[in-house]
Amino acid sequence: MKYLLGIDVGTSGTKTVLFDTEGNTVASALSEYPLYQPHIGWAEQDPQDWWNAVTETISRVIRSSGVNPSEIKGVGLSGQMHGMVLLDKSGSVLRPSIIWCDQRTQAECDQITELIGRDRLVEITANPALTGFTASKVMWVKNHQPELFKHIYKVLLPKDYIRYKLTGVFATEVSDASGTQFLDVPGRRWSEEVLVKLGFSPDWMPEVYESHEISGTVSAEAARLTGLKQGTPVAGGGGDQAAGAVGNGIIQPGVISSTIGTSGVVFASMDQVRMDPKGRTQTFCHAIPDTWHVMGVTQAAGLSLQWMRTHFGGMERELADFMGVDPYILMDKEAERANPGCDGLIYLPYLMGERAPHLDPYARGVFFGLTARHGRCEMIRSVMEGVAYSLRDCLEIIRDMQVPIREVRASGGGGKSPLWRQMQADVFQTPIAITNSKEGPALGAALLAGVGAGVYRDVNEACEKAIQVVKVQNPIEENIPVYEKYYEVYTDLYPALKGSYRKLLDISSQ
Ligand code: XUL
Repeated sequence: MKYLLGIDVGTSGTKTVLFDTEGNTVASALSEYPLYQPHIGWAEQDPQDWWNAVTETISRVIRSSGVNPSEIKGVGLSGQMHGMVLLDKSGSVLRPSIIWCDQRTQAECDQITELIGRDRLVEITANPALTGFTASKVMWVKNHQPELFKHIYKVLLPKDYIRYKLTGVFATEVSDASGTQFLDVPGRRWSEEVLVKLGFSPDWMPEVYESHEISGTVSAEAARLTGLKQGTPVAGGGGDQAAGAVGNGIIQPGVISSTIGTSGVVFASMDQVRMDPKGRTQTFCHAIPDTWHVMGVTQAAGLSLQWMRTHFGGMERELADFMGVDPYILMDKEAERANPGCDGLIYLPYLMGERAPHLDPYARGVFFGLTARHGRCEMIRSVMEGVAYSLRDCLEIIRDMQVPIREVRASGGGGKSPLWRQMQADVFQTPIAITNSKEGPALGAALLAGVGAGVYRDVNEACEKAIQVVKVQNPIEENIPVYEKYYEVYTDLYPALKGSYRKLLDISSQ
């Protein structure tokens, strides 16, 4: 038998999954780690936590599957995008990783735009400067930690740090590299112009591959720590969005995905580079040669419901513990008791600022329309609806870009909830499909490794073998006008609050 291993280095934890060549899960393991938020809007993680989680989950998967490691034909890596891992010459990590949702770098984004020029920056990197991207994080280190900046030898992304630990090789691939803002996205190679104009060394950048290409093999040391066979090929893989798209079969124009993980993403594949002229969506290389993708990102999608669970879901957590079920299932039940539209309670999911459509690191979460009649069930449901509205915002921009939309596939942890999927169908006014694939990014990474290792001819063949649509949920006709009216109010709220967000920032940062 042949098997493929997919590793997804996420924000809340790392998931490692062993698949057969039909895409069936043979074994999987998850290991969680903390997110550090030393100040409002900051977000950091310890790369050592990722590596510990990776070694632990690989060992568990190999042990529980009973599979002979020599039957694992390839390893694919996926992970949270944009995070900055700085290494010194000895390969040691210089500081905690500043990750994708960190919002401290607006001044550095202005500086980058000034140094390169907005139009030229968009022409090369296909995106305006964003606080989420790696470039502004490296600039922040240059401005605030100059002593440490002097010691930079390599700049890696989270999954590529894991690649280094697994193989000893400094490498990345085009989809994740697109999110650094150092890549020439149309040309699919590092932009020396951007790096040099920012005062960074092109030598810091790892080798850039296409996502299916083999970038290295498992080293003796990594084999000892994980149980993998030394010499197992490790493919490029993909940023979590591109890999997740492959794992859901989003590889051709017309089929798009709506993913609710920690962040929320509406993602469409394109066979040419197209950008939103206002920079509200991101255009990156897709994980398939000669294709690109556009995506709209809402920063705190699943994170909003997780926040609700952590701070107000004590009752569900205790009951879920007792019943041996997931607390989110009980929160869904609670939310089902509220009416669509929550009788006028609207939630803005801007807990970590926002990216699409507002590009505002200072935006904050809001419950609007709260009355004495509203209770827990409306609070929970309004969080879920607010996320659906913000995904609709992303979808509208993609529609405006004339990107074809024939089918929307739901995925991510939030995609497992039938209620949240129904809200998306009703708010988007499109049917929502789900596939047999429950492991988006890990499966996508494994399929890419399968292409690199010669198990499949190409990504099309891999997806045809592994992914099928298993269910479609249609919009509920009577909910459409209800949500349409509330969505209109939702879109009015951010412009009305923008000035107050600034005032709030001034006060809270005094
Ligand atoms: C994509 C993005 C997030 C992170 C974390 O641009 O910022 O999806 O990759 O999942």
